[in-house]
Amino acid sequence: MPTLAGQPAQFISIELFQFREGNRKDLQMTPLAANLTNADMNDLAAYFSAQKPRPPSHKTDPANAAIAPKLAEQFNCVQCHGKALLGQQHIPRLAGQQFEYMRMQLRGFKAQTRADLDGNMTSAAQALSEKDIDALVDYIAGLGALYDVLLLIFDVVFTRCDAQREVTMAGVTSSDCQPPGIKVTCTSPECIGGAFVRAVTNAHKRGLRT
Ligand code: HEC
Repeated sequence: MPTLAGQPAQFISIELFQFREGNRKDLQMTPLAANLTNADMNDLAAYFSAQKPRPPSHKTDPANAAIAPKLAEQFNCVQCHGKALLGQQHIPRLAGQQFEYMRMQLRGFKAQTRADLDGNMTSAAQALSEKDIDALVDYIAGLGALYDVLLLIFDVVFTRCDAQREVTMAGVTSSDCQPPGIKVTCTSPECIGGAFVRAVTNAHKRGLRT
């Protein structure tokens, strides 16, 4: 069962609509959605979207944590779902989503049995092998917990910063400290401390760290 907290409202509305219209079918969801009006769907979407997602309990295998950010780039997951895989508009949040749920959905998109509003996700899934799916899902289900790993990385960076001045961590794309990584440009030893504090603050703000 998916986590809905913090999903973009538009995505939730669209999924409810797809269940009601019978494009997407599920033993539990189909009867629930059958009698919803459009206004009900928007209200439910607004409610769940405003909830703060809990930090995931899933622990990613370190081997997958090492390769999956590259897969997410290579297969354009981050292009649509966002750098931190937090979703946008009609595109769902993936970070911290349930492992089994995501794996089923990706297999479904690949087999073309999961309904897909615009066909984009079905296309995106075609190139994925079972191994890619497992690695991606194991990584994404633990996202959020990534901040704990970042804390460790920052400890290492602290000690290297003086010599190096600029540190780019693997898979890092964003200056505001979102996964899949962080680029830290450091002009003084204090600056790296500032970036560290900012990363943790942002993680708190997004509900990814408590
Ligand atoms: C071209 C844009 C695009 C790309 C590339 C893309 N996605 Fe998606 N993805 C979507 C959209 C749109 C949906 C919602 C589909 C729907 O239900 O109509 C979605 C849905 C999903 C879902 C189902 C989530 C849920 O809550 O039901 C998963 C899982 C997912 N994507 C994972 C991935 C992964 C992993 C990658 C990279 C291999 C990827 N996506 C690449 C656009 C994209």
